[in-house]
Amino acid sequence: MSGRYELHCHLDGSVRLSTLADLAPGVDVRARAVAPPDVGSLHGFLPFIDVALDVLQTPEALERVARELAEDWRADGVVHGEVRFAPQLHTRAGLSVDAVIDAVSAGLAAVTGVRTGLLLCCLRHQDPSVSLEIAATAVRRDDVAGLDLAGDERRPGAPHREAFDLAHAAGLPVTVHAGEAAGPDSVWEALDVLGARRIGHGVRSVGSAALLSRLRRDAIALETCPRCNVLTRAVPSLAAHPVDQLLRAGLRVTVSTDTRTTADTSLDAEFAALRETFGWGPDEERRVQENAAAAVFAP
Ligand code: HPA
Ligand code: ZN
Repeated sequence: MSGRYELHCHLDGSVRLSTLADLAPGVDVRARAVAPPDVGSLHGFLPFIDVALDVLQTPEALERVARELAEDWRADGVVHGEVRFAPQLHTRAGLSVDAVIDAVSAGLAAVTGVRTGLLLCCLRHQDPSVSLEIAATAVRRDDVAGLDLAGDERRPGAPHREAFDLAHAAGLPVTVHAGEAAGPDSVWEALDVLGARRIGHGVRSVGSAALLSRLRRDAIALETCPRCNVLTRAVPSLAAHPVDQLLRAGLRVTVSTDTRTTADTSLDAEFAALRETFGWGPDEERRVQENAAAAVFAP
């Protein structure tokens, strides 16, 4: 295999437990940062990221976890990794948004043998003016490869349209979390209102034949994260996950972890489970990697 691609990976949900324990002494990091199998929903899953946010408030911590993520990618066979984070969540101790991004960039740059890219996240629950500031930062910097919308899908994406229009005007590509907790309408909104070229998860698109046609026609990449999708009950089980059906139907299916720590996974673990559940072999994994290679944002 020529190497794996990870397009959907959150920095705050992918901090090594040993590093969290170091940065948060006295905290039971496994209990606080790894979502239990019965977590049951996206809004139940997201609070397990909070303990990492509490400690990722200094340049040293941010640089360290970015470097360790790149090292973990390399160990997991990843040759191209795109990490996403919301810099506005790392300013509690006084860091500027740019200083947060500088620290993450420096951490990634310290590791050789894996190409990396940065995506900035706007958040559904934040005021659209914050999203606009994040988009303006993303287009101004030359080390940001794309813009994302994350957070609780019970909230609409449309209020954040101005931020995404700014990205489009600057030629910055966009991905949007949709079709994980919410249904096909959230994916239509991501495509038609926010101009997404990739969809974070998107697994609930299977509910609409018209949407599947659109995703196929425009070669929109689906950033599926099978283990995370089972944890948040976007699907009831891995066997019920549409990843195999979507790949066979000719959609641009990709596989990522979402959160290596919160979802307790790796690409090695994801592909092992896909082999076991769907009988995937080298051919299926190669097609997934080709799909991802065709959908990268980072230059
Ligand atoms: N969806 C939305 N926001 C997130 C997720 C997710 O799966 N993981 C981390 N932040
Ligand atoms: Zn995600």
